[in-house]
Amino acid sequence: MPLVTSTEMFKKAYEGGYAIGAFNVNNMEIIQGITQAAKNTQAPLILQVSAGARKYAKHMYLMKLVEAAIEDTGLPICLHLDHGADFETCKSCIDGGFTSVMIDGSHHSYEKNIEVTRQVVEYAHKHGVVVEAELGRLAGIEDDVNVSEEDSSYTNPEQVEEFVNLTGVDSLAIAIGTSHGAYKFKPGQKPALRFDILEEVERRLPGFPIVLHGASSVIPQYVETINANGGNLDDAIGIPEDMLRKAASMAVCKINIDSDLRLAMTAGVREHLMNNPSHFDPRQYLKPGRENIEDLVQKKIINVLGSNGKA
Ligand code: G3H
Ligand code: 13P
Ligand code: ZN
Repeated sequence: MPLVTSTEMFKKAYEGGYAIGAFNVNNMEIIQGITQAAKNTQAPLILQVSAGARKYAKHMYLMKLVEAAIEDTGLPICLHLDHGADFETCKSCIDGGFTSVMIDGSHHSYEKNIEVTRQVVEYAHKHGVVVEAELGRLAGIEDDVNVSEEDSSYTNPEQVEEFVNLTGVDSLAIAIGTSHGAYKFKPGQKPALRFDILEEVERRLPGFPIVLHGASSVIPQYVETINANGGNLDDAIGIPEDMLRKAASMAVCKINIDSDLRLAMTAGVREHLMNNPSHFDPRQYLKPGRENIEDLVQKKIINVLGSNGKA
């Protein structure tokens, strides 16, 4: 099976009240852990690559690893560019075989966001590739961009119909209170999402797939393991899983997860090296990291996304 777009996945997910997991990948162990979990649960999958991941691993290596994962699992997999900064980055991924790209114009003015998104959509659709855009701005850390809370903004539902109609985009990321990274809420702050905004967007765009970025739950098990092995992640707080399940039952068809993968991998590696300080074969300490990723993704698919058995 070749790489697929997310069109069919989103249609079924919207109708079925579940969401597709979009997991960030940077290396072989992460790709293997995620795809093994999807194979175990027969879940459709989006693997996403940031500009930082392309710089770290090189486009070609990630492409070949994902092709291997498709051959190994036989699953429908969509390969997506996460947070494409400009037309050139999106074009490079489209030309390089990705089946989906995100053009993130959320830091531009509304007008400029429409202009750059429309340009990417025009090129992508000519090449059979689908496009995700973003309206509103999430707080948190992405690569070397750090958006402060004051610079973040909720999506204005009054803009969504016009934005989708003028750009021709295939899915839309909205800001309802999630944020990137492991520190999503202040200590003592009660985690909350603006489901009223999601409801209003859903009402205005019936049947249209919505994307949730910054959706890691910051799983306590991994935070505790890291802290027990010399780490200091005391104030890390994520999005409660019941809120993600609720979003998945609504118009949210794609849920982005990266920080939880990082925590799972690091917890496995860190615990192994603390218990076995003389080990220096990377296979010995990367294996528990990969196993943690598999376990994490399997639980996400079954308990949060509801995409098990939907491949
Ligand atoms: O939303 C951003 C993702 O977590 C990717 O992070 O740009 O550091 O690879 P990165
Ligand atoms: P997290 O940092 O919550 O995992 O979000 C990842 C993300 O949105 C990637 O685009
Ligand atoms: Zn994101």
